[in-house]
Amino acid sequence: VTYPDLVVVGAGLFGLTVAQQAVEKAGARVHIIDVRDHIGGNAYSYFDEETGAEIHKYGAHLFHTSNQRVWEYVNRFTEFTDYVHRVYATHDGEVYPLPTNLGTINQFFRAHYTPAEAKALIEEQAGELAGKDPQNLNDKGISLIGRPLYEAFIKNYTAKQWQTDPSELPASIINRLPVRFNYDNRYFKDTWEGLPKDGYTAWFERMIDDPRITMELGVDFFDASQPYNKAALNAAGVPVVYTGPVDRYFDYELGDLKWRTVDFKEVRYDEDDHFGCPVMNFSDADVPYTRAIEFKNFNPERHDSQNHERTVVWEEYSRFAERGDEPYYPINTEADKDLYAKYVELERTVPNTVFGGRLGTYKYYDMHQVIDTALTAYEEQIHPMLAK
Ligand code: FAD
Ligand code: NA
Repeated sequence: VTYPDLVVVGAGLFGLTVAQQAVEKAGARVHIIDVRDHIGGNAYSYFDEETGAEIHKYGAHLFHTSNQRVWEYVNRFTEFTDYVHRVYATHDGEVYPLPTNLGTINQFFRAHYTPAEAKALIEEQAGELAGKDPQNLNDKGISLIGRPLYEAFIKNYTAKQWQTDPSELPASIINRLPVRFNYDNRYFKDTWEGLPKDGYTAWFERMIDDPRITMELGVDFFDASQPYNKAALNAAGVPVVYTGPVDRYFDYELGDLKWRTVDFKEVRYDEDDHFGCPVMNFSDADVPYTRAIEFKNFNPERHDSQNHERTVVWEEYSRFAERGDEPYYPINTEADKDLYAKYVELERTVPNTVFGGRLGTYKYYDMHQVIDTALTAYEEQIHPMLAK
């Protein structure tokens, strides 16, 4: 084989951004491989034939950023709708607005508190454990927002996310529980937000629409029988950007980094609109899933091309990931952080390879953060390798 100037392992947002930059900034020839049968990594979506909904295959993806460089970059490849993210929660037979705000508080306490009154009440309730250093997530939650709101909206939801009683979870999982003392229930605080006008996949395809970029799907970097494998590329000294799991790269030789995953259960209803919103959280223990996504409702502007007799909903079940599961959220205990630092040491043994993205660096990144880190990694690490 004649190798290209750069091989990118993973067609997620990190890999696509780096590939696009390598062509634009260095005129490089780039080959992308991905073990999955589609582009876009975890941000991939597809259109559901029956309902016309755009289904986000690996969980709901909302684009939001306050980073001007990233906002300008993504707008080169897609327009965004004026979608504004809002989330609701079902608790004890009622639907409340989230994040916890004055609307949530006044509905919950059957009151008409002013912002100052609500603030004073929450401070008083949060004082229940005053002077004690919270030893677990339960006590931490109570000390942040008081027992009534904590037990209604956080406790059981968190137990479902972690499949662990919050009194057994470390306090460090939550640093703050934001409460808004006004009626603002806009979920994100960022300058810009929206959804890609004609879907995520159309956006991603435009990023690599250049004859100097080739892509092969269904190809595993660790499969020695295909030419773009780890051993062959390292032997030839070809520059590689690797966005798969860092522990897998080194054959788990120092141990496994821990992740949570989510299982999705699809449900279809014979109605136009089941929840009246795209995301419904379920705060109580009697519903086994954490939340449900009604995808049609992310794109009300597509009303005319959607089916109004049927809707599709995905219920989310959260659990610890085993090897072979999709790794979604890094657990990031102190042991995980130490282990990751040791893998970073090992990366020095492969100077032709840059590790990037959420799997390659064991970090939770939103899409805008992964694009930002990819632009920086290109400038600082990858461009110098291509210029040689
Ligand atoms: P990935 O998208 O994971 O891409 C890595 C790619 O590498 C994958 O396609 C994988 O198949 C491939 N790969 C791995 N190993 C190999 C191998 N051996 N050979 C070949 N290919 C390989 N972000 C937001 O901004 N808003 C949201 O609302 C949002 N919601 C999210 C919800 C969930 C449930 C999750 C898990 C993430 C969410 N994110 C969200 C984050 C977003 O998904 C990530 O920021 C983004 O997908 C990361 O891109 P990446 O390229 O780093 O990784
Ligand atoms: Na999300």
